[in-house]
Amino acid sequence: MQLVPTLSEEELRLIDAEIAHVPYRSAVAIDALKIVQQHRGWVSDESIKAIASYLDMSADELDGIATFYNLIFRRPVGDKVILLCNSISCWIKGCDGLQQKITEQLGVQFGETTSDNRYTLLPVTCLGACDKAPVMMVGEELHEDVAESSIVRILGGST
Ligand code: FES
Repeated sequence: MQLVPTLSEEELRLIDAEIAHVPYRSAVAIDALKIVQQHRGWVSDESIKAIASYLDMSADELDGIATFYNLIFRRPVGDKVILLCNSISCWIKGCDGLQQKITEQLGVQFGETTSDNRYTLLPVTCLGACDKAPVMMVGEELHEDVAESSIVRILGGST
């Protein structure tokens, strides 16, 4: 017998609270993805099926949304995700140099997680703070006007 993927009671409670404010269930797709990611760290294929079923939409449709929205992680990530913006403003202001510094310090390239599982480094499209480029997020924290010399401090001296 095939197991039906499920959501936890807490996840369902939070998703229901979002659904209460909208005219149709699929309107909370991104919120539901974020809720599940907050609880599980990332959004697996099983989670996609469970959320899609709950929101009366197809798994493919929800997967398309999750893939498009680059703050939803479709693969396991470390305890903190470093999102380094590499869109035009940040590229002009030297995000390549920041990437090199991060790679030197943590030993990971884009898409990789440190061996101690503390950090995953990912590229991200414009974080909406172009006037403060280059910018990066570490976990929930946005760092603006980042200098290469600040990377060690921002990452807490991790080696
Ligand atoms: Fe990096 Fe907009 S281009 S924040």
